[in-house]
Amino acid sequence: MKLIDINTAAPYRVVLGEDLAGSCGTLIQLHAGLSENAKTAVIVTDDNVGPLYAGTVEEALTEEGFRVLVYTVPHGEASKNLTTYGKLLGFLADNEVTRTDFIAALGGGMVGDLAGFAAATYLRGIRYIQIPTSLLAAVDSSVGGKTAVDLPNGKNLAGAFYQPSLVICSPDMLRTLPEEEFTAGCAEVIKYGVLGDEQLFAHLERFAGDFDREYVISRCIEMKRDIVVQDEHDLGGRQVLNLGHTLGHAAEQLSNYSLSHGMAVSVGMAAVAEAAASAGICSGECAGRIRNVLKRFGLPVSCEYSMDDLYEVMCRDKKRKGNMISLVIPKRIGACEIRKMSLQEMKSFLESAS
Ligand code: GLY
Repeated sequence: MKLIDINTAAPYRVVLGEDLAGSCGTLIQLHAGLSENAKTAVIVTDDNVGPLYAGTVEEALTEEGFRVLVYTVPHGEASKNLTTYGKLLGFLADNEVTRTDFIAALGGGMVGDLAGFAAATYLRGIRYIQIPTSLLAAVDSSVGGKTAVDLPNGKNLAGAFYQPSLVICSPDMLRTLPEEEFTAGCAEVIKYGVLGDEQLFAHLERFAGDFDREYVISRCIEMKRDIVVQDEHDLGGRQVLNLGHTLGHAAEQLSNYSLSHGMAVSVGMAAVAEAAASAGICSGECAGRIRNVLKRFGLPVSCEYSMDDLYEVMCRDKKRKGNMISLVIPKRIGACEIRKMSLQEMKSFLESAS
């Protein structure tokens, strides 16, 4: 078992190891900093993950003496909305959940974001624990405190920075992930290699989907820790985590979310790498390696949408500041830069991809 401490303003710990679901009650008692008045644990999960793991987590929490409630939402991004969020808050209030109680977010990115935002806002903030069951949540969304729901106008438009009290990451839980969802999560893993770790990238090139899960997940979490503690509120350096996301979010939105987040990020990474090579910011070899590793994982490197359509959506990106946007551009494998440019410059830059 590995412990990774995240020293944000409110510090917390990631516990990473195999078969942790059955010990999550003890782990929470040991590492989450709960008040001695904590009585109720609310497991928030979805209808795919709940039947697999909620029973084990419920039992582990009951053994520690908690009253355990389970709140299940339909799986998929469509549940990450204001209606589901409002119902969840109502459930917490109806069950008289108090400030010293906590939520355990058991699921992938959607569950973590939704449950985290409910925890951030219910009674002006109660503790929550992330128990990620998808690769994307394990390596990215469960760490760093970004919580949100989507609005009809776009993804993650209502949210809060609110760090969890503990993350329990048990890679064995990923074994039940549908293959497509695992593959989509690999896009975020590859992103970390491109951002800051050539050794990690080379490991992914060599082993593709058979990579060493504990090594890869822990490297991604450590890199995310280093980025987040420097820029908890995403005002500067944390933006490197958006590699591939600007174009990716636009493609995801144009597809009405039938293109998953990971697949969309893959398209965005391939496009920005090609454009960087055309502009001489990275070598053609670097862009080729990025494109090839994405393909080797079965990830898409292009999409059906025209640059004009993508551009229209990118102009509404929440990371835009006035007419300017920051684009994350690879310089070589293991190093990226954040370049501020006008929206029009970004369009020309991305169109220049050969
Ligand atoms: N997933 C990007 C971030 O946490 O900043």
